[in-house]
Amino acid sequence: MSTPFDVARVRASYPALLDGHAYLDGAAGTQVPYAVIDAIAAAYRAGIGNVGGAFAASGRSDVIVAESRQAIADLTGGTAAGVVFGPSMTALTYRMSSTLARDWAPGDEVVVSRLDHDANIRPWVQAAARAGAVVRWAEADLATGELPVAQYADLIGPRTRLVAVTAASNVLGTRPDVPAIARVAHAAGALCYVDGVHATPHIPVDVTEFGADFYATSAYKWSGPHVAAVVADPALLETLRPDKLRPSSDEVPGRFERGTLPFGDLAGVTAAVEHLAALAPGGSQTRRERILASMAAVEEYETGLFARLLDGLAAMSHVTLYGKAARRAPTAFFTVAGLSPRAVASHLASRGVNTWNGDNYAYELCSALGLEPQGAVRAGLVHYNDASDVDRLLAGVAEIARP
Ligand SMILES: Cc1ncc(COP(=O)(O)O)c(C=O)c1O
Repeated sequence: MSTPFDVARVRASYPALLDGHAYLDGAAGTQVPYAVIDAIAAAYRAGIGNVGGAFAASGRSDVIVAESRQAIADLTGGTAAGVVFGPSMTALTYRMSSTLARDWAPGDEVVVSRLDHDANIRPWVQAAARAGAVVRWAEADLATGELPVAQYADLIGPRTRLVAVTAASNVLGTRPDVPAIARVAHAAGALCYVDGVHATPHIPVDVTEFGADFYATSAYKWSGPHVAAVVADPALLETLRPDKLRPSSDEVPGRFERGTLPFGDLAGVTAAVEHLAALAPGGSQTRRERILASMAAVEEYETGLFARLLDGLAAMSHVTLYGKAARRAPTAFFTVAGLSPRAVASHLASRGVNTWNGDNYAYELCSALGLEPQGAVRAGLVHYNDASDVDRLLAGVAEIARP
């Protein structure tokens, strides 16, 4: 039994929601609660310096970095010493792919999935091309949006070095069976790189349960600032040699972090994790336990709200919905007969409803679905959305006249 979810209390913690818009664009970036804004402001107000200095402000930055690594570890079930920070998941994945590919030889193989955001495809495809490695593609079932696990037995073999897969599609919401895919990868001696950007805001995450050797997440998708992290076993990171400056730290995880970290934002990362932990507080447990309880409540709440959204859209004959995977993040992807996705999003914006239009960088999937170049409309729920947001979306779509 998860803890009850008080959406009114949650909404009151987000100043941006006071503008009265229905923010259904959370999959492209969430709003930020007072606590995160205040934590960032407080860090700057107190005075921060670069890390490792002899003076107090530098010591405050040392603490901020250590606390934010621990916060990400608590959020994901990883280890603080294995948390690598970077400006975005895309930047970190390029960094990791070029590092890992140094050990790839011609004829080695990497497996990517057609379901993924391009940030978990292109860096691997380009690194493979440089190394002479072969890219194998896992295909999504276009009728359902599922990523069938059975195909991985054929795709993965003795030459497979890496399997990249998403924990949730950022357009169809599909949550593939990542643990099963990782088991096949590991049995062949391959590493598994999991894109957790779209999954992390919606479910309790455990990188060990996923079997993720690398787990990438972006704080701006879960109420934090524009900072991303990759979580890995520090022992695995020790074996890797990224390009780095000569005088910069050769320790793990600092070895992977280029230049000066955004200390103010990292204070916001910790506050965002605290915010998630307190969404549905479950008593006086550890922060990790509170996060797991909170995110279970979030998942349950969002699943209920998503059913309302999906049922409403499915009942409209001028709407085509994409994806119906059995396990989904609460993200709807749809087109409306006679109107471009941009025109639909503009119409909804005129009604105070924020949605996204386009391929949302799920380029391979949208190409396979025949949706390029316009993509579709994406309406994504996060924990601060409520039934009135959904109803306003449905009313806005319903009033679009059939051609
Ligand atoms: C599933 C998924 N993966 C990766 C990314 C890229 O993340 P970032 O903007 O941190 O590079 C996004 C961003 O939308 C995403 O939704």
